[in-house]
Amino acid sequence: MERRSFIKSAGLLTGGALLSDIQSFAGYQAPVIKIGVVGCGDRGKGMMHVIQGLKDKFRITAICDVLDFRIDEARKITKEAPVTAYKDYHKLMEDGNVDAVVVAVPLNMHYPVAEATLQAGKHLYLEKTMTFDIPQALKLVELSKNRPKQIIQIGHQYRYSPLYYKVKDIIANGVLGKVNQIDCRWEKRNLAEAGTKPVARAPDQLEDV
Ligand SMILES: NC(=O)c1ccc[n+]([C@@H]2O[C@H](COP(=O)([O-])OP(=O)(O)OC[C@H]3O[C@@H](n4cnc5c(N)ncnc54)[C@H](O)[C@@H]3O)[C@@H](O)[C@H]2O)c1
Repeated sequence: MERRSFIKSAGLLTGGALLSDIQSFAGYQAPVIKIGVVGCGDRGKGMMHVIQGLKDKFRITAICDVLDFRIDEARKITKEAPVTAYKDYHKLMEDGNVDAVVVAVPLNMHYPVAEATLQAGKHLYLEKTMTFDIPQALKLVELSKNRPKQIIQIGHQYRYSPLYYKVKDIIANGVLGKVNQIDCRWEKRNLAEAGTKPVARAPDQLEDV
């Protein structure tokens, strides 16, 4: 698989509309990328929901978790589609029906699973934080150097969304004029609780999300 087509498709995890426009414009249909998900906790399942919404680009073919109930929950997301479930991520790496691996295990396991993914010749979507420490990050960079055809993408929530690129462009183009003050917050939980209306809160009531 060409780097370019994978990047387009990987970007589609959050930027579907924009990139599919580009693809139809070019008259090019990228092959469906077969995804294995290692770590089916909150983030892994969240990613699976997004991937499921992009069926013309991605297909989840394998899942892996050490916990049975996580496997059961993940299976409910893929529903009708046949997926192979593994408890040992090394086994998933041997699965020829997986092109790219989404790694959403706890941080201490990021490096070993990422290393195994690259050594198996698969593309890698690795959740943030990339690695537990800097030596591991440097080892990952070394590993990637010999694998120019394999894509490594680090997951940062919303980092790849066209919305944020648009906002960046608006600011860069001077639409806002001279910015004197920035007030930045994320009211995700309140929005969900209150339907579409933001709920005002005093600063000491705000929590980390
Ligand atoms: N991109 C983002 O903005 C973002 C947001 C939230 C979480 N994350 C990252 O995603 C990762 C997972 O977070 P989470 O909240 O889903 O955690 P979680 O604890 O809900 O899920 C982790 C899952 O990995 C499984 N697991 C542990 N060891 C394993 C192994 N050896 N093989 C297979 N499965 C294994 C666990 O059983 C669990 O189901 C973390 O590194 C976190 O930092 C990223």
